[in-house]
Amino acid sequence: MIKLEDPTLFRTENYVNGKWVGGSAGHIEVLNPANGTLVAKTVNGSAENARDAVEAAAVAFKSWSKTPAKERASYLRKWHDLILENADDLGALMTAEQGKPLSEAIGEVKYGAGFIEFYAEECKRVMGDIIPTVANDRRLLVYKQPIGVVGCITPWNFPNAMITRKAAPAMAAGCTVVIKPDAGTPLSALALCELAERAGIPAGVLNVLVGSDAQAIGEVLTQHEKIGKFTFTGSTAVGKILMAQCASTVKKISLELGGNAPFIVFDDADIDEAVTHCVATKFRNCGQTCVCTNRIFVHEAIARDFTEKLQRSIAALKVADGFEEGAEIGPLINTQALEKMDALMADAVDKGAKVLLGGARHELGQNFYQPTLLTNISDSMRLANEEIFGPIAAVQTFTTEDEVVEKANATEYGLAAYFFTRDVGRVMRVSEDLEYGIVCSNSGVFSTEVAPFGGWKQSGIGSEGGKEGIADFYETKFHSLGGV
Ligand code: SIN
Repeated sequence: MIKLEDPTLFRTENYVNGKWVGGSAGHIEVLNPANGTLVAKTVNGSAENARDAVEAAAVAFKSWSKTPAKERASYLRKWHDLILENADDLGALMTAEQGKPLSEAIGEVKYGAGFIEFYAEECKRVMGDIIPTVANDRRLLVYKQPIGVVGCITPWNFPNAMITRKAAPAMAAGCTVVIKPDAGTPLSALALCELAERAGIPAGVLNVLVGSDAQAIGEVLTQHEKIGKFTFTGSTAVGKILMAQCASTVKKISLELGGNAPFIVFDDADIDEAVTHCVATKFRNCGQTCVCTNRIFVHEAIARDFTEKLQRSIAALKVADGFEEGAEIGPLINTQALEKMDALMADAVDKGAKVLLGGARHELGQNFYQPTLLTNISDSMRLANEEIFGPIAAVQTFTTEDEVVEKANATEYGLAAYFFTRDVGRVMRVSEDLEYGIVCSNSGVFSTEVAPFGGWKQSGIGSEGGKEGIADFYETKFHSLGGV
């Protein structure tokens, strides 16, 4: 049992129409990825339960969409405050079900709350237009109206913030939501509902349905005619299937999909800074974020110095159960993730990669993998092309700016890219030439609720965060008013 200051945040039933309800598909066992122990047994919702949730959200939409933005903002603000008041407990639930170190989990809770605060403010400033008329007996008006019920599928790597990043702008805009969190990490989502209820958010506005049959529930959320918009964070492969399903009802969609982030270090970079940020972006959440550094390109003139320093920094990382004091690297999410690391390593070593550090499962057992550093990387290796999603850092060298930009862009992904240089002209050139939705120079840190987060190419459609993150939850209506 997880120790919580407020044990009533530990919820295991679905939250639909303001009620805690069972699921018609039995139970789900939530396991701690650090040790395999049972954290919780939650209900298991079915496609039929998902349809009930959509119907409830559609009824709630009628009044929520007519609630003034200022009033909606005040509910959201209360929800935000309660989340911050309970950040330690929410962090503990997350560490238990997801594995990330407790300090990182609490950091995610605060990051997640930031989206609620931001959109509580932003929804009061979404404006329509009055267009100068083309005829004196007519007036041309443009309204922004909430799009309806929003279906959301959220991932296990950010069990809190990927929910608030979708639900907060949707609810702020006047939409109601039905969320399917990952079946492996439902407790964070259900605790958010408990706090939403305490904040007085009306029944049916926020609905969370935990269920292991992702395909059946996904079909409801992508095809139900009462859903106006569908939003998903997860892999590109699954995103493509969901996108195709949305076509049958021409649903508006936004997708936050996979990445293959380059991290480029030019020969004039501050090497110590570059190393610090490289470790931060590569090993955040044990390498399990869509924006984690995936390919490290270092100019050949500084490659030796950079790699030695990187090796020392990686070797100093503390791998431990997320609840242990000072833990920096927790476990991978599950056995499949471990098997993927094994396969990527075998392929890389087979094709000539040199292992400077790690390269195998960790002595802590369960889902732990050693923080790993590889050099001698070539383009044919799987880890130079696929999203690694684990604690393997792979360094390659380059000679010219043109060459490295071309290599960085040679991928179907386009989410985040990082580069280090002190040359201001190069900062501008490279940031313009990288085909990515997020470009980060001389830093590995960029995540914030106030700016747009979204991918180019096969990394997604649309943006979350910033003013862009609420725009998609409105329909535009043009009213041509005659007889004036
Ligand atoms: C993600 O990688 O899925 C989200 C990362 C972030 O919001 O910083």
